[in-house]
Parts: sequence; structure tokens; C-alpha cells
Amino acid sequence: MSMSVFHRSALAEKMAQQVLATGVGVSSSSGLFLAAPRRTGKSTFMREDLRPTLSKAGAVVIYVDLWANKQADPGDLIASAIRDELSKHDGVVKRLSKSAGIDKVNLAGIGISWSHASLGKDVALSAALAALSDEVKAPIALLIDEAQHAITTDAGFAALFALKAARDELNSSAHFGLRIVATGSNRDKLAMLRNSKDQAFFGAPLVAFPPLGKDYVAWFCEGVGLSAQLEVDMVYRLFEQAAFRPELLAAAADHVRFDFALESNMVSEAFVKAVQGQIEMADAQTMRVIDALTPLQSSVLRVMAAKAEKYAPFDEAAMNSYAAVIKKIAPAETLVPDVSNVQQALAALQDKGLVWREKRGVYALEESTTAELLRSSGFLDGL
Ligand SMILES: Nc1ncnc2c1ncn2[C@@H]1O[C@H](COP(=O)(O)OP(=O)(O)OP(=O)(O)O)[C@@H](O)[C@H]1O
Ligand SMILES: [Mg+2]
Repeated sequence: MSMSVFHRSALAEKMAQQVLATGVGVSSSSGLFLAAPRRTGKSTFMREDLRPTLSKAGAVVIYVDLWANKQADPGDLIASAIRDELSKHDGVVKRLSKSAGIDKVNLAGIGISWSHASLGKDVALSAALAALSDEVKAPIALLIDEAQHAITTDAGFAALFALKAARDELNSSAHFGLRIVATGSNRDKLAMLRNSKDQAFFGAPLVAFPPLGKDYVAWFCEGVGLSAQLEVDMVYRLFEQAAFRPELLAAAADHVRFDFALESNMVSEAFVKAVQGQIEMADAQTMRVIDALTPLQSSVLRVMAAKAEKYAPFDEAAMNSYAAVIKKIAPAETLVPDVSNVQQALAALQDKGLVWREKRGVYALEESTTAELLRSSGFLDGL
């Protein structure tokens, strides 16, 4: 299909209201975390619906996607998004030059520092955002897409702590507020940003970002332009089976659209088959990667998936589980799991995009759907 987007204005409206709300007992001032599986429309919603809605409500919106450039450090990506916004407001430079002694012709050269000190050419993030807040006299909404990547590097970690300081400063009565909305595709990973007291967003609400619904499916059926009308309830059931991924419907529609020999009374049936084919293809792709793993890698992946957030890669129970799985899937294997080869297996799984590692060595599945796939394929039996 074309580049068209189904707009979710009611959801954006509701969320913007919550995000911008102030008052007693409002926890969203600590930031709001939205979790939803891969490819279900998080970024599209942030960019196409939430960003304009927050702007319309009077906020200055800064959007940064920490996955946009996998080579760049997440800390730098956050800094440059903020710097871009600062540079749009002339008055900010004046304010900063007063407060931090910055050369006013040289905003482009200003570095954003994660520390509290604002010396020389570096200005502390909280000072920069405070200057912006005072200049625009409006709340600042910072939307961080794929926020879990911030905790994979030192600079990213530092940026989050600086943001917490900035948020506390800007949410004080002297300024106009900083609201941070973060998304991620894995609940466990996002939870790490807010579960422990030493994390920058301790206690921020983590909510499930709702998948696209029947209204989206109705819009899809209306606009898809096949030679026969698709029935909304039928397509919605397929959409559920497709784990709410719009791309699978779109690809199936293309498949049907280019089958020029198809009679219009066969369109529905062909569409059902095409969606199921898309689902199988998506699963098969992951299964091919999984099937090619060594017995140890496979056992590490299975134990991680089975234990979920209780997974501790190097404890005795895990070691025993790896050995048990290996014995089952590769009885001839002589390798005995130990800390060093498990470490290597984890690194290999990371390279293959199956596993994600937080800076301090906490591991999680890259995609939570991998666990479901392993389970339904019987790979977690007995674990
Ligand atoms: N509201 C929508 N209307 C039409 N298509 C959509 C909508 N939301 C998402 N899509 C389509 O679904 C696909 C995935 O969307 P998007 O990139 O927003 O998802 P995501 O959850 O951010 O994915 P990722 O996990 O890769 O970051 C894209 O092809 C996008 O065009
Ligand atoms: Mg995205």
C-alpha cells in the first residue's frame, strides 16, 4: 500500500492530556513508558499522532529515535536532538550566554554535557533545557523512541541521569515542565529503566501501548483497493493472528493485487492464504536463524526465553538447565557449559539479533515474540 497512515487521534489526545497533566498525585511527571512488540506502529504513532497533538496542545516537542542510527551513541543522539531544537530559538542563546558565559554567536559549537558543571563550551543539559523552557514559556515534551538503547552505553546512561536532573529542575515551579515519553519493544528491557532506585526513571508508569484495532482494519479494508471488498471482522481475526503487524496485511494485499488471474469471488480466500503465508514466512525467517545455532547457543536462548525476567545467565541453575537441554537436543555433544563458553554463546546470540545486553550484563530476548515462537515450536518443553 501507499505511505498512508491511519491516524489515532483519540489515543493521541488522551495520551497528550495525561502527559501534560500537572497536579497532585500525577505520576506521569516522572515520564511515561510505552511498551509494544516490534512492528506494531509505535514510531508511526509517536511521529504522526502524538508529536503533532502535543505541539497543538502548546508543548515544544523533541523527538529522537535511538535506533535511527545504530552506529551513533544513544547519548549523542539525544544531545543532538536537543541541540537542534535549541538552535531554533534565538533567545535561548542569549539566556545561556548570560547564565553560562557561552559565546553567543557559537550555538552550533555548544556541546551538551551530561554533568552538572557548565564550563567553557559545554553546557549542562539541565541548563540548556531550562533556558529553552524559559524562552518558550511552555512545557517541553521529549519523545525517546527505542529508549532501552540508552542503557547499552556509558554516554546513554549518563544522558538518562542528566535527563532526570533536568526533569526535576524543569518540573519545579520556576519553569514550565519537562515531560518524557519513551517507547520500547520489550517490556523487560524498558522495565530496567524504571525498576531500580538507581535508574533515572524510577517509578515512571509503564503501560502497554495498545495495538491498532478494528477501526484500523476497517480503514484498511476500505482503502486497500482489491477487486472485491474484504470483510472487516474476518480481516481483524487475521490481524490478531499476525500479532497486529500492519506490514503483514499490506504485503498480503500486494500479493493478491498482483495475481491478475484471480476472480473477484476468490479474493477473500486468497487474502486469507496470503496473510497466513506472510505469518509463516516471518516465523520461518526467525526459525532459520534459530535452527542454525550451536547446541550451546540454542540451549542458552531456550533457557533465557523460559526463565524470562528471572534469567541469570551464570548461576548454577542456569548452567544445569543448559546442560540438560544440550543432552536432549545433541546427545553426542561433549561440551560442558561454563562461564566463558556461555559468555561466548551470549555474544553470538547478540550478533544474530536474538538477544540484547544491557550495559551491566543483564540479558533479555531482543524480541519477546521469539519466546512465543520457541514455545509453540516445542523448544521450551521441559524447561
Ligand atoms: N497507524 C498506521 N497506519 C498505517 N500503517 C501503519 C500504522 N502504524 C504502523 N504502520 C505500519 O506498520 C509498520 C511498522 O510501523 P512502525 O515502524 O511505526 O512500528 P514500530 O512498532 O515502531 O516498529 P519497530 O519495532 O521496528 O520500531 C510500518 O510499515 C508502518 O507503515
Ligand atoms: Mg519504531
